Amino acid sequence: MEFRSLSVILLLVSIVQAGHDEEEHKPVLTVEPDWPQIFSGQNVTLTCSIPGERVAYWTYNWYRDSVKFHSSDENYYIIRDIKTHHGLKYCCYGSGKWNSYSPWSNQVTLSVTERPKASLILVPTGQMFNGEKVTLRCDIQGHTDTEWRYSWYKDGDSNHPVHSSDNKTEYSFSVVESNSGKYTCRGERRSDSQRSEISDAVTLTVSETPKPELTSSHKGAALIGNPVVLYCKLDQSAGWRFYWSKHTQSPENETKTETHSYTISSVSVSDGGQYWCRAGRGTPVYYTHYSDALWMNVTESPKAVISINPDNQVFRGETVTLRCDMQGGGDTEWRYSWHKDDYSHVSFSTTKENTISFVRESHSGKYTCRGERRSDSQTSEISDAVTLTVSDRAQAVLRSSPQSWLTEGDSVTLSCEVKGSSTGWTFSWYRDKDELLSDSSRGAGGSYTLSPVALNHTGVYACRAMRGETTYHTQYSDTQPLWITGVSRPVSLKVSPSRVQHFSADSLSLSCEGQSDSTGWRVRRYTHREKVSDCSSGSGSVTGSTCSISSLNTSHTGVYWCESESGESSNPVNITVTNNNVILESPVHPVTERDPLTLRCLCHHTKASDCIAEFYKDGLLLQTQTTGEMTIRTVSKSNEGLYHCKHPEKGESPQNWILVRVSTNPADKAAPNLVGVVVGVGFAVLFIILLILLWCYRANKGLKQNIDQMSQQNRQPGAEVTQNGHTLRHADVASGSTEVTYAEIELKTKKPTKKREMASVNADTVYSELKHNTDKGNVAGLGDSD
Ligand SMILES: *[C@@H]1O[C@H](CO)[C@@H](O)[C@H](O)[C@H]1NC(C)=O
Ligand SMILES: *[C@@H]1O[C@H](CO)[C@@H](O)[C@H](O)[C@H]1NC(C)=O
Ligand SMILES: *[C@@H]1O[C@H](CO)[C@@H](O)[C@H](O)[C@H]1NC(C)=O
Ligand SMILES: *[C@@H]1O[C@H](CO)[C@@H](O)[C@H](O)[C@H]1NC(C)=O
Ligand SMILES: *[C@@H]1O[C@H](CO)[C@@H](O)[C@H](O)[C@H]1NC(C)=O
Ligand SMILES: *[C@@H]1O[C@H](CO)[C@@H](O)[C@H](O)[C@H]1NC(C)=O
Ligand SMILES: *[C@@H]1O[C@H](CO)[C@@H](O)[C@H](O)[C@H]1NC(C)=O
Repeated sequence: MEFRSLSVILLLVSIVQAGHDEEEHKPVLTVEPDWPQIFSGQNVTLTCSIPGERVAYWTYNWYRDSVKFHSSDENYYIIRDIKTHHGLKYCCYGSGKWNSYSPWSNQVTLSVTERPKASLILVPTGQMFNGEKVTLRCDIQGHTDTEWRYSWYKDGDSNHPVHSSDNKTEYSFSVVESNSGKYTCRGERRSDSQRSEISDAVTLTVSETPKPELTSSHKGAALIGNPVVLYCKLDQSAGWRFYWSKHTQSPENETKTETHSYTISSVSVSDGGQYWCRAGRGTPVYYTHYSDALWMNVTESPKAVISINPDNQVFRGETVTLRCDMQGGGDTEWRYSWHKDDYSHVSFSTTKENTISFVRESHSGKYTCRGERRSDSQTSEISDAVTLTVSDRAQAVLRSSPQSWLTEGDSVTLSCEVKGSSTGWTFSWYRDKDELLSDSSRGAGGSYTLSPVALNHTGVYACRAMRGETTYHTQYSDTQPLWITGVSRPVSLKVSPSRVQHFSADSLSLSCEGQSDSTGWRVRRYTHREKVSDCSSGSGSVTGSTCSISSLNTSHTGVYWCESESGESSNPVNITVTNNNVILESPVHPVTERDPLTLRCLCHHTKASDCIAEFYKDGLLLQTQTTGEMTIRTVSKSNEGLYHCKHPEKGESPQNWILVRVSTNPADKAAPNLVGVVVGVGFAVLFIILLILLWCYRANKGLKQNIDQMSQQNRQPGAEVTQNGHTLRHADVASGSTEVTYAEIELKTKKPTKKREMASVNADTVYSELKHNTDKGNVAGLGDSD
């Protein structure tokens, strides 16, 4: 209130005064420094000058935006350290002692702005090198360059600029190391010498001309076909371009890159040689020194060779090891990559072996590998592909060779193989299901030989194979029976009706009959379905050692034999049961050479003789017989074969193998009989000789000396004639001049089979020999006792 009323009064007073002193006393308000734009922080002096000589007469009144803020006897007012908000409208007037007033001064508007700060920029920034040109640019934001003069200072010495420029913002010079230091700059306004704030310090570091270091991605020789990257290493600062040269190039033809690396995507022999690099920047280009030379030697890339252990063909569950070898890879350390099916699967390993421990069908495929040098990842050539095939479980297959029906003393080899795979297996052999005969140590190479076979080798054999560290086992093979027919067995199997083939629904009786006691023997059989079983199992009924099957069916087809409690056995017999209407009647036991053999064709529900039949051997027609019967009078080995017969309407019989047995050592078998025969013959001969002697004695009495002489002659080694059991030698008396014949007969009882018969006449005795094979008779005799 008071303030406002005072203003009104003053206004009135001034109006009153106006008419009075207006021209004479109008104050002039001036500002020092005299510039409308004042920087904050300056001391600004306002001076109110009232014309006239009576300066001391006035009291000075100061107004800011029409508000009085100060009055004093001094005609000036100093605003110290002015702030931007002080920028307002100022005016003043004088008031005299006798209520006199000067008019208002002119109004002054102060515009206060922040003092600008200079900023210094080094181009280029960062590390500088001896001889490079540097530019120091001083900027004052929001002001035109032409307002200012610029000064540059080094190391904080703001009194002695290292350089000043009237109107240029840039200061450029070629650096030397001693130029290193902290630089600042500031501007000074041309108009009022007002200075900008000094810039922040920027450090210039000048070093010696650098020398880059040339390195390469490869260690040792580069391998053809691999990528190689060269690096030009320059620790300091930026803005460089890189220049690459090779000893075969001229320096002008340097290759230029924007980055510090130089890539050869697939190195070839011609890329080998010495390389250098250097860097450059600026215009004109400032170059660094050249790097040291780097050798790049290019060599052939080794080739990887992949292999599979144990085999390319493996089975589910096996352990498979893939191995990658480097052909000519030297002693380099490699890493390995493994590819399956053209890179669809890739894995890596640090060792050259890659093991799949439980292989599955899905692991089947084509595998390749390659090596990667650990030091620099240079890769070898990729290997050729190998194909791994993983199959379901492995099956062992057992075969007997030459056959499975053997005669005591033969030899037989069982061979075992794994279907589809041949390497790395070891084999085990089993008999009668659970008896382990031998492991790998004996049956090496998958074969197991029995030589000579003995009767007790009869049995059912199986094998299986295994391989690998984790011992993978194949399935057991199918069983393979071995039947060994002995020359003499204590017990034999009697079949009734006595033939191999039988009609189904017929009855059959099988009994064990021995020379001695056959109690405790039972009939056993081997059929396709049941393998080994008792005859009594199924429909057989057993009485003592006899097994009767009342109604045969085809599942009874098999091999039958007698077996004692101690495991001894008789010779086996084939039995075939057929649903056909025709069967071939043939003996159950092997036929012996020189025996007669009669085969009959039997038709179901028909008398044998009514069965007109064609007989076949090994599929070829032998004979046609209206009697339904064919006979071979003396059987020979060549008669052995597969027989069957055929009725024109009723069909044909099953095939039947007829085995012809040759006695390998019939003399042995014939021994007891032979002795009898020989003794008989011997007596007859003796008797004849006695008669002759008697006659001779009568005819000629004086020849006793001759007999002695001749006996001696015969005992001389060269003259002895030895015979074996097969042959009998008869000494004939030559129809020579001598009238009397002497004979001496020696019977060696030690070896009854070897009979020695000698006849001697005189020095010119002639021997003739007559061979006579006695096999037939002897074996036939034995056969009966069988
Ligand atoms: C303003 O005046 C004060 C006191 O006289 C003085 O200390 C200061 O340095 C002055 N400032 C400038 C920018 O001249
Ligand atoms: C800058 O100064 C130089 C010499 O000091 C002068 O020749 C030139 O004309 C000036 N330029 C401007 C734009 O003031
Ligand atoms: C490359 O070959 C040169 C000349 O044969 C030899 O001096 C240099 O040692 C080799 N460098 C390497 C890394 O093998
Ligand atoms: C340098 O390169 C140019 C153009 O590519 C070529 O004509 C010249 O022969 C090269 N000089 C040398 C010394 O290789
Ligand atoms: C077979 O018999 C002989 C003795 O006659 C015996 O040494 C051998 O161990 C027997 N073999 C088997 C498999 O029973
Ligand atoms: C054959 O006979 C056996 C024993 O009696 C019987 O188990 C089997 O089922 C018969 N087989 C056929 C095909 O009739
Ligand atoms: C039994 O049959 C088999 C197979 O047909 C044959 O190899 C074998 O010699 C026969 N055995 C006899 C004693 O006939």
